[in-house]
Amino acid sequence: MGTGEPVRRTVWLDSADPESVRVIDQCLLPFEYAEVSIRTAEGMAAAIRDMVVRGAGCIGASAGYGMYLAALEARYMSGADGAAHLERAGAALEASRPTAVNLSWAVQRQLGELAGITAGDERVTRAREIAESIADEDVASCAAIGQYGLGLIEEIYARTSRPVNVMTHCNAGWLAFVSHGTATAPMYAAHDAGIPVHVWVSETRPRNQGARLTAWELGEHGVPHTLIVDNAAGHLMQHGKVDLIIVGSDRTTINGDVANKIGTYMKAVAAADNDIPFYAALPSSTFDPSSRDGLADIPIEERDPREVTNATAFHDGHQIEPRVAAPGTGAINYGFDVTPARLVAGIISERGICRASEESILSLYPEFVGGVISR
Ligand code: MRU
Repeated sequence: MGTGEPVRRTVWLDSADPESVRVIDQCLLPFEYAEVSIRTAEGMAAAIRDMVVRGAGCIGASAGYGMYLAALEARYMSGADGAAHLERAGAALEASRPTAVNLSWAVQRQLGELAGITAGDERVTRAREIAESIADEDVASCAAIGQYGLGLIEEIYARTSRPVNVMTHCNAGWLAFVSHGTATAPMYAAHDAGIPVHVWVSETRPRNQGARLTAWELGEHGVPHTLIVDNAAGHLMQHGKVDLIIVGSDRTTINGDVANKIGTYMKAVAAADNDIPFYAALPSSTFDPSSRDGLADIPIEERDPREVTNATAFHDGHQIEPRVAAPGTGAINYGFDVTPARLVAGIISERGICRASEESILSLYPEFVGGVISR
């Protein structure tokens, strides 16, 4: 999964039945590897909501394919009815999860490019092409992010001549995108280039995407890694055991505020206190150029409190949810937090590394001048 053609994708069209989209069921990993077929736009919205597919890039690409499924459903409708069906399907997909902007970016791209096509078959063909492009672009972007991020790891290795300790949070790996991942792509690239790299993987309560998904991914690729509880991150930084932090992002404002899995902000604060560079790795589909204030503007998903009061585990081949909180205790479950740009050393994008500032971001992405995501 280094720089070459990826081994697997998280979402793809079924070659035997191109009216069906295949995904990896990420709720079962790493205890069971299962693929499922999704045949309706509504089914895709449910898969995103229930986190069968998850991670910003993966749900963006899945939404792109969801719109293709909607176009199939609208194939024999009149032009106006078909357009209304696509709008409804797009709204349902966008509503399935609020924070990752890749979702609405993909839906709006489909709606924008399909607007004006009234013939059902033509709309299906175009929606399929767009969905495939979104997925292919995600793969290419993540591969490029890997190469740019590799430079950071190479530089530390050249200076220290010892294994480079990188910390990450949650899962911004290939499972969170179509392939490669963002935060993990430089780690894979470094490992493939023979640079000794070791990754601190924080478990990322409550859903444990670090313990379950990132640890699994890194292990499959042979990248040395160690699991820590989320609360150990600051301790490791204080003791000089972290050279670099790379996280993903679900939405990044045009001035460089980064929304990412809950707990990211605390890592960034501890990193600043210990002079450790804290980078966010993200493709352009994760920018929200309409926002300059992450705290004010970015909607933060609140999930079922049971994810906090209960753990999820696999036992005898079954998923179980043993309670960990005292009976009767209430909980609140924020999915994401916002790390202000001032704590972000840089953004690793598919066009290079820039500072977390509007000027620097716009120098790489001049098309965002004016603050709109073009449909
Ligand atoms: O809730 P999830 O699993 O969809 O959250 C996404 C994440 O894993 C992260 O926040 C990630 O670091 C950025 S998304 C690639």
